[in-house]
Amino acid sequence: MYEKVKQTADYIKDRIAVLPETGIILGTGLGGLISQVSEQTVFKYSDIPNFPVSTVEGHEGKLIFGKLSSKNIVAMQGRFHYYEGYSPYQVTFPVRVMKELGIKRLFVSNASGGMNPAYGIGTLMVISDHINLMPNPLTGPNDERFGVRFPDMSKPYDNELINLAFKVAGRNSITLEKGVYVGTTGPTFETPAEYRFFRIIGGDAVGMSTVPEVIVARHAGIPVFGISIITDLGVENKIVEVTHEDVQREGAKAEIKMTAIISEMLSEL
Ligand code: HPA
Repeated sequence: MYEKVKQTADYIKDRIAVLPETGIILGTGLGGLISQVSEQTVFKYSDIPNFPVSTVEGHEGKLIFGKLSSKNIVAMQGRFHYYEGYSPYQVTFPVRVMKELGIKRLFVSNASGGMNPAYGIGTLMVISDHINLMPNPLTGPNDERFGVRFPDMSKPYDNELINLAFKVAGRNSITLEKGVYVGTTGPTFETPAEYRFFRIIGGDAVGMSTVPEVIVARHAGIPVFGISIITDLGVENKIVEVTHEDVQREGAKAEIKMTAIISEMLSEL
């Protein structure tokens, strides 16, 4: 696997002017960030050797290099979800490539269902910790070139980046919450009993992404910042039918705030 990662990174290195320092996985609500990226070099996933190809509606598959807030970044427009049928290895392959390209930190965003009764639709939740209920992407033989066999997970999300997010949000009069993200395989949304269960075990929000990428980033020693848009509620008496379109619509509404936070955080790094 290391050879494949290296081959992909070498292909990209030959075609970009500067190496990125920050990786960004653009989930729901961050797509608009791309319009702020200057000096873009864009790769379609389908053109990148060894890259999986994105299929899910509302997620385009492009890897974009350029400058955001005058920092060198690489952004994934479209991510790979386990529920699409990709293996945990494929889901996290781009993170390994970004590591090989030299990123010093990873930003991730997603949409999720809120179990914390204090949350409403549109709440922005900075991820302080997660509970992994998906297959672990590090299962299988360990290659020490990526990281150790038994990676520490005591600091899954970087405290300095979390503090920076709150500082930037305060300055922009944006309210942020902080909470625990439960990662499930999907593709089903939760039953009422499942939302209740995820609340009881310590979750504030639940979604179908992010955790595999974060595990692989932490394995590689990359500090991570994660932020989630609450697009629907898994709170007793507030549970209503939810569709992919609801998630996309509510995610889009939060886009201005989300992009402001990420671009201002970058300018302070
Ligand atoms: N559950 C799981 N994933 C989600 C949800 C949810 O309620 N909302 C957005 N992604």
